[in-house]
Amino acid sequence: MSKNNNDFVTIYVMGKKQKVPADLTIMKAMEYAGHQFIRGSGCRGGFCGACATVYRMRGSYKLQGALACQKQVEEGMIIAQIPFSPSEKITYKLNEIKANANTFLEYFPEIARCLSCNTCTKACPQDIMVMDYVQAALRGDIKLAAKLSFDCLGCGLCAMRCPAEIVPYNIGQLARRLESKYIEGPTEQVLSRCEEIKEGKYDKEIESLKNADKETLIKLYNSREMKNE
Ligand code: FES
Repeated sequence: MSKNNNDFVTIYVMGKKQKVPADLTIMKAMEYAGHQFIRGSGCRGGFCGACATVYRMRGSYKLQGALACQKQVEEGMIIAQIPFSPSEKITYKLNEIKANANTFLEYFPEIARCLSCNTCTKACPQDIMVMDYVQAALRGDIKLAAKLSFDCLGCGLCAMRCPAEIVPYNIGQLARRLESKYIEGPTEQVLSRCEEIKEGKYDKEIESLKNADKETLIKLYNSREMKNE
């Protein structure tokens, strides 16, 4: 069925006016307008955080953030893609650090500058309570920091808006690592799967995957079982 005029919206991609179908996501609308994603796109399913985008609506001062693969275009959107958000990559040895507040302060001393302004929470396209998990980490409540940050994709939009120049997604990642290593520990399923791997239960399957051609791998990937847990 062909589209009529009402099925289109006008958006601005990197400053250029474009008329695009109204039912597209930002990512698809950008492709419709002729952009090719070499960076700034990954899973296309809202899981990887690679497609962070900022936009303003015409007539509004508010800078908003979204995942381009999830957010549908709206009339008057002024869009810019942020295919990469620069941040310092801190390294640590999980076996050598302790699960307490000092660890966060040692590796990320900037969290002490948190103003509790909540800008990070407002910037999160996943509606995660970012400020709350940063504050929990600061108090040493690792369990809560891990729980609140669990759905973080690391898209970087919180870090881009933080006036104290904190990179919250790094804090959440450390909290989840500490929690699973020192507080919760590996689950029964993980332990038994590790045993199975050690015993060679999957050797044959892994070998056949390593030797499979691309077409077979695509077919297998598309027909894989997903667990909704
Ligand atoms: S491309 Fe992976 S979250 Fe959008």
